[in-house]
Amino acid sequence: MLSKYFKPSLLKKISESAGTPVYVYSETAFLKQIASYKKAFRSIDPLFCYAMKANSGGALCALAAREGWGADVVSGGELYRALKAGFEPGKIIFSGVGKTPEELEYALKSGIFFINAESFEEVAELERVAARLKVRAPLSLRINPDVDPHTHKFITTGKLGSKFGVSFEEAQKIYLYAAESKHLEPVGAQFHIGSQVHSAGPYAVAAGRLAAFILKLASRGVNLRYADVGGGWGVKEGGEMADPAPLARAVAGVFAGTGLKVILEPGRSVAAPAGALLTRVIYRKRGGHKNFIIVDAAMNDLIRPALYGAKHPVALVGPGRGPEKIYDIVGPVCESGDFLAEAARLREPAGGQLLVIYSAGAYGFSMSSQYNSRPRAAEVLITGPSSWRLIRRRETYEDLVASEL
Ligand SMILES: Cc1ncc(COP(=O)(O)O)c(C=O)c1O
Repeated sequence: MLSKYFKPSLLKKISESAGTPVYVYSETAFLKQIASYKKAFRSIDPLFCYAMKANSGGALCALAAREGWGADVVSGGELYRALKAGFEPGKIIFSGVGKTPEELEYALKSGIFFINAESFEEVAELERVAARLKVRAPLSLRINPDVDPHTHKFITTGKLGSKFGVSFEEAQKIYLYAAESKHLEPVGAQFHIGSQVHSAGPYAVAAGRLAAFILKLASRGVNLRYADVGGGWGVKEGGEMADPAPLARAVAGVFAGTGLKVILEPGRSVAAPAGALLTRVIYRKRGGHKNFIIVDAAMNDLIRPALYGAKHPVALVGPGRGPEKIYDIVGPVCESGDFLAEAARLREPAGGQLLVIYSAGAYGFSMSSQYNSRPRAAEVLITGPSSWRLIRRRETYEDLVASEL
């Protein structure tokens, strides 16, 4: 139960001091996921590169860095934040389908671990940048293994026809080209099949294809050292991370004893259970046959329900009144899609009561916006049974116009 990390008495204190809506993270919960990953994978001792897109806040990233994890970044901005949070440059990998020459230069100058390139044109650009800087760029290719991870279509990435990665055939041509280049050093190969994946089967299939490919490449004289199996491991219905043991067995089953160093890029499964969105009831009303609870958080704070029908566990902080009823929990944004939960079963809250939306630590704040000119929420980190600190202040109305000229 995620509620054990977010005690009502503490949530009340946090709301009084930091206001609402506020993202609240539990250091204990975040570290628990990290420990579970390390334990599950201990037989092959991989390098974990936390996928910062899930939650790029400096406080959580610093915890991951302190645990010896690296980072998976997908933009120059994330690279900047990764370095600021204390990730070692030699443990940072750079993924993404459209890195600009400026971003590639920044990555090479920063001395990162390697670049996961996704097209021949990107590799050619990387070669030009590396030649200009008179360095050899450590190169990995994101390969599309054409595996269906059986998840939402917006977060399926490992099927051919998606914009991500290159086919094995194309990858072979690129590696053979890179191996001849003075400014490219092929070091690894990667796949990332999708997100919110609940079965290890698709990983086993993709990993098997990758291992066979790496072996074939070695026979052509290109010897890779790293096999990167991406992220994507899922979060269960109640909001907790799915047990990573089956994933570990699948990955170790393919790569143990091959001499390849395995890399993983988990994001959601580490950050989601560690965060909750705390919001306050503004109004209650009936609309047709429906009961609505209107709260002060909205789709600009947490877009996942609106974007892909994500279901977050929701609970009242403190007791409610009467028997349970079915409620839609909606925000103040002027969109019918602005809901945080549909058909949630709750007792009736009082006006002004707090409500907590669990498993919101990943793709919550990091996907938030100022839509409807709503300043972004504050963020708080719970560091002990009764201790917490503000890790990001609430934005102000001045922040809404601060970048305008
Ligand atoms: C290349 C890459 N690695 C890792 C991740 C992290 O996935 P998740 O947060 O589902 O673990 C993503 C997510 O989109 C990704 O694109």
